[in-house]
Amino acid sequence: MAMYNDKVMDLFMNPHNVGEIEDADGVGTYGSPVCGDMMKISLKVNDGVITDAKFKTFGCGSAIASSSMATEMIIGKTLEEALKITNKDVLEELGGLPGPKIHCSVLSEQAIKAAIYDYAQKHNLTLEGLKDYDPNASEEDHHDAFEDGEDE
Ligand code: FES
Repeated sequence: MAMYNDKVMDLFMNPHNVGEIEDADGVGTYGSPVCGDMMKISLKVNDGVITDAKFKTFGCGSAIASSSMATEMIIGKTLEEALKITNKDVLEELGGLPGPKIHCSVLSEQAIKAAIYDYAQKHNLTLEGLKDYDPNASEEDHHDAFEDGEDE
């Protein structure tokens, strides 16, 4: 039996939104303390709405599929709406990932938050969804993102 469902395999083979926006309004990177892989997200924002999002990753197939899905989910959303999207929402849309790969979906959630934080910093914007966000937080602080079965 395959470990990965068809949707995950398809997004891994044909990911959407790969690359980097040249004149991005916000850029964020996140490195996973679990596996050491990296994710970079760049955003275009117009009137508080995310109009484009691209990702680059030094990460595995699950990170690629998660980021493809996550970038699709935030395009067209307001910054506050995008900040509410968690890795669990991404996992749900993907139809799940094998337990040991759940942490890979955290990369996209955290890199999106970092990119929105960058945008907010540059525009002196206070966003409700960033109230508790600490760009230097350790993985312990993101622990709730793992409660669904991370077994590291
Ligand atoms: Fe590192 Fe998947 S193993 S992102």
